[in-house]
Amino acid sequence: MASGLILGIESSCDETSASVVRVGRDALSNVVASQLIHADYGGVVPELASREHLRAILPVVREAMHQAGVQYSDLEAIAVTEGPGLAGALLVGITFAKSLAFGANLPLIGVNHLEGHIHAVLMDAEESFAEASPLLALVVSGGHTHLYLATKTGNTWHYRNVGKTLDDAAGEAYDKVAKLLGLPYPGGPWMDALAAHGDPKAVPFAFAQIKAKATGNTAPKLSRETALTADDDPTRYDLSFSGIKTAVRRYTELHTMRERIEARAAALAHSGLAKGKPSNPETLQQALAFFDTETLDLIASFQASVTAYLTRTTFAAAEHFGARGLLVSGGVAANSELRRRITAEAARHNLPVAFPSIALSTDNAAMIAAAAWPKLQTRTFAPDTLEPTPQLRLG
Ligand code: KG4
Ligand code: ZN
Repeated sequence: MASGLILGIESSCDETSASVVRVGRDALSNVVASQLIHADYGGVVPELASREHLRAILPVVREAMHQAGVQYSDLEAIAVTEGPGLAGALLVGITFAKSLAFGANLPLIGVNHLEGHIHAVLMDAEESFAEASPLLALVVSGGHTHLYLATKTGNTWHYRNVGKTLDDAAGEAYDKVAKLLGLPYPGGPWMDALAAHGDPKAVPFAFAQIKAKATGNTAPKLSRETALTADDDPTRYDLSFSGIKTAVRRYTELHTMRERIEARAAALAHSGLAKGKPSNPETLQQALAFFDTETLDLIASFQASVTAYLTRTTFAAAEHFGARGLLVSGGVAANSELRRRITAEAARHNLPVAFPSIALSTDNAAMIAAAAWPKLQTRTFAPDTLEPTPQLRLG
């Protein structure tokens, strides 16, 4: 009997996760083991990530099955992230999923991590988008910043990449700037929480507009404005975040902030606050004591300008491609200011918009199992030879 149950496994970066999802929608469990070890290094160390995945994968999968209250014989398929991500980290999940599929005599489904992020939103919102096509998806995380046009034909989703970052991902920019200012890792949530205590207009950061590129050798180069009026021109909505990182560094040098930054980083580590979560009001309140107005203003200005840039670019693309709905996903989709701006702009454009729940914003296996559901309908299974594809693209 068809149960509609898929066990998803995700291990592309620094979260080991397993989840049982029914018919691509109801998560019966979603267990996420975050690797805290990387905080000591200020970034993800690939070798450590693989080792931690090896340690965690079995207990995490067992726990996901236990919480869901199902047996392997109840499942219809096993889904696993095949890329993009860290090769060694992906390999742990894929090898485990393959063995499990073989042992339990279940089909294996390979899922693109980015498609997973899109389905994290569709899990809850697909019904409200029922007739809306195409959808524009902004996937913003520590590793990715992409704009996709998504359409569904029957049970098959199609994606077209219409924009991406040309250098750092938005979350990476958050984390790097946070590090530059002596904040704990990962810095994105800290920046977001601290930004509320500064003046967003204090430092006027400017984002240069990326020139739209026309594909094909003979096509003339178009500025975005020109392309907007030329419907058949393949316009790109690419982004760049490396400039603002440099601008923040220059600002700290010009304002001789280095000593304060080093003192702050040491004090936060010493107090134990660096290991806390800024979403905890008490932790944030105590941490605020280590920040001067100038730094808080800088953080607020960074947040305002990055989120305005993402919002501006997303709505320019939505307008150009006639998107009928908008979805935002990935770790940075948890950002309060990005949510506020996109929600307000969507209301102005009369465009339905959806974000994942905070739990489904960051890496998790529920989104992998959800993305695998339409593939189960079309019996799109992975070969026995499935391997990690670290640079796997979508669209
Ligand atoms: O999706 P995710 O868990 O992993 C990747 O696939 O990268 O995203 C993690 C990223 C990190 O860069 C983190 O700093 C960022 O998402 N992030 C945030 C917030 N919460 C997480 N960035 C800004 N504001 C937030 N509230
Ligand atoms: Zn991700």
